Amino acid sequence: MISTKMEAALNKQIELECYASFLYLAMASWCDKEGFEGGAKFMHRQSEEERDHMLRIFHYISEVDGHALVPAVKKPPKEFKSAKALYQQVYEHEQKVTKSINDVVALCYKENDYSTLNFLQWYVEEQREEEALMRSIMDRIKLIGDGPQSLFFIDQEIDKINMAEEAAAAVAAAAEPGA
Ligand code: FEO
Repeated sequence: MISTKMEAALNKQIELECYASFLYLAMASWCDKEGFEGGAKFMHRQSEEERDHMLRIFHYISEVDGHALVPAVKKPPKEFKSAKALYQQVYEHEQKVTKSINDVVALCYKENDYSTLNFLQWYVEEQREEEALMRSIMDRIKLIGDGPQSLFFIDQEIDKINMAEEAAAAVAAAAEPGA
């Protein structure tokens, strides 16, 4: 059982994760339109991950006898100024998500809600990884530059990340019991 306040805070987090999923889907579409194949693949994967983040909270709320709510989705933008602006926006959105997770963690301590605190540890770790990944992308863009001649190379760097993520996922799948 969680408090009404905690239920509201977790439902607000569902909204943020859901918006991230839709925002990243819009970004994948824009990347496709602009010919950034690496970027499109990257953003599609990010969008799927955000949907998973949303659903984990959804199931948790039900498990602790709360009411998980399907959020109204704010329409994401469909155009982005540049590849650099797009990744910068992802980074900023991830920082916003981290702040929100930290606020819910603070509420857990305030309410002595150790079950939700334990549940949120996965998100704390995930946000650290997401922010580090986006910072490394911004660093690479800074090194390569973001003029018209650099776009192909930026997309290649993003595709290197795609390949690394795919390789890591394959290793994790092979390690699963029964694989
Ligand atoms: Fe689920 Fe990347 O925030």
